[in-house]
Amino acid sequence: MRIRTFEEYQSAYDQSVSDPEGFWAEVAQDFEWKKPWKKVLDWNFEEPNVKWFVGGKMNITENCLDRHVREKPNHPAIIWEPNDPSDDTATLTYKMLFERVCQFANVLKKHGVVKGDRVCIYMPMIPELAIAVLACARVGAIHSVVFGGFSAQSIADRINDAGCKVVITTDGSVRGPKQIPMKDTVDDALIGCPTVEKVIVSTRTRTPVSMIKGRDIWWEEEVKHVSSECPAEEMDAEDPLFILYTSGSTGKPKGVVHTCGGYMVYTAYTFENVFQYEPGDVYFCTADIGWITGHSYIVYGPLLRGAISVLFEGIPTYPDAGRFWDIIDKHKVNIFYTAPTAIRSLMGFGPEYFKNKDLSSLKVLGSVGEPINEEAWNWYNENIGKGNCPIVDTWWQTETAGIMISPLAHITKTKPSFATLPLPGVQPVLVDENGQEIQGNGVNGNLCIKFPWPGIIRTTWGDHDRCRTTYFSTYKNMYFTGDGCMRDEDGYYRITGRVDDVINVSGHRIGTAEVENAINMHTGVVESAVVGYPHDIKGQGIYAYVICEASSHDSELTRKDILATVSRIIGPIAKPDKIQFVSGLPKTRSGKIMRRILRKVAEGDFNNLGDISTLLDPGVVEDIKAGAIK
Ligand code: WT7
Repeated sequence: MRIRTFEEYQSAYDQSVSDPEGFWAEVAQDFEWKKPWKKVLDWNFEEPNVKWFVGGKMNITENCLDRHVREKPNHPAIIWEPNDPSDDTATLTYKMLFERVCQFANVLKKHGVVKGDRVCIYMPMIPELAIAVLACARVGAIHSVVFGGFSAQSIADRINDAGCKVVITTDGSVRGPKQIPMKDTVDDALIGCPTVEKVIVSTRTRTPVSMIKGRDIWWEEEVKHVSSECPAEEMDAEDPLFILYTSGSTGKPKGVVHTCGGYMVYTAYTFENVFQYEPGDVYFCTADIGWITGHSYIVYGPLLRGAISVLFEGIPTYPDAGRFWDIIDKHKVNIFYTAPTAIRSLMGFGPEYFKNKDLSSLKVLGSVGEPINEEAWNWYNENIGKGNCPIVDTWWQTETAGIMISPLAHITKTKPSFATLPLPGVQPVLVDENGQEIQGNGVNGNLCIKFPWPGIIRTTWGDHDRCRTTYFSTYKNMYFTGDGCMRDEDGYYRITGRVDDVINVSGHRIGTAEVENAINMHTGVVESAVVGYPHDIKGQGIYAYVICEASSHDSELTRKDILATVSRIIGPIAKPDKIQFVSGLPKTRSGKIMRRILRKVAEGDFNNLGDISTLLDPGVVEDIKAGAIK
């Protein structure tokens, strides 16, 4: 169901609201189902209980692979661009990818993986990562991909939460000039993971690693002994496809669960319409498969539509800050999708890095993960798009599975820093503090969605009530996104940022409570409070206020120790940018930290702290202001 004009968008949108079941049934017809659904939608937001394509049977990999292998076996599916530009690119056609997925699916089966088992994948951006993901889906195992930058502790937490039976990893990885251990980190994690029976190790760096007899096996060895035919497991539309952990405002990360049928329909529909993908286009999304963007818009969405998807192993600044532009030039990329952080960082390196690159293949530019400021939007538009590529600023979340509010390329009139209009099937509402829907245009509120779409989160793994309280209890009968939003006079949406205690650092979600817990684990730390502050490149930076025991004080060393602790507990991405040692935190008489004050000080705005008379000790505010880090 391809939209080609703004009028078609409007009529699709209208139909999706007046007859959502009819609308999505028509979209879903475009896929191969082993058995048709009996009912399109069953839902209530109280429990919540949302089911799409009830009773339908399918396997997402048949739609990603088998059907394209029949129609165009030698068409490229994945173009792999290695970290080092002088190494060989690898192109996997649909047939090659299909065979390798089936082969690896047979390896999983041979080692006892069956439908419903959980498999943890901790890998760098190599084709084997996509193959591992699809092989799990082939046999009906639930994949839980953990981003390669997470610590052993974070891997262990995720493995244990999901009860994973198998871990798939590599010996090591390369990112820019650095070699990074992977298997070693998994080994550390597995000290505390009793459910793991097998570790499958793919070779990337040939670094020496320990291989424990009976537990650890080599990918390359295993695939030699299995067939490359593997019938796809029949899955119910509502069987879980994967778990992906994401941070919230409280405690430990939640395992967001997406299911097979709705996820398939939603990612494919949004991929082709937002980017206006045409057969043969080369599409390059710079995200990591460890995040939802990589799941939905490197692997599943593009493959479902038979697209050519570039999978890039490296980083934007290696060997120099022109790497993205080199890749666009080299592979004649037509559609390029990246995060504002990357744009802001590359802007800073100056024009010599893109000046002599041929970027004329580009037709569409995308942005995702955080609000894109006007300056970055304009730079991207003028220098990369040369003024003739629409920028699709796509707003969505791990929990939504796919893009929710976004222009359709070449169809929706764009406006810098606006995600513009909801996609068909998406019914956004702005809500005030009392839970009242705010009508009309030119208004601000908390962004909610009042009707289910096929990609909506189904549950949080192992704790359904957490799903209800986090997303469905703040406002009755609505999914609450956690974002603030404005709707302008044209009815266009602009996301203003999180309204909860989640920080968006370089497009990655980090819960302040999680960072605080990690800091508090450091010996000598009494208490801490973490807030976000505006950061020129990362969007938001992490600012930590830390109270230490009086005795411990070489503050420079303690600062470094705290950074090491946070890296060890969560991973380097959660390291605070600034640590301020304080003697007290601004607390109310009931013991609640007034984060508003901490945020203002972190922003460097000392004059608008608001009413501080309810503080137990207003004096701490002066100390905090005096010691603020610029
Ligand atoms: C949060 C979701 C969406 C995939 C990557 C991040 C922020 C996302 C935009 C955008 C403004 C955005 C929101 C959202 N966000 N896209 N285009 N404009 N903000 O997924 O880690 O689940 O984070 O990212 O705050 O709630 P995620």
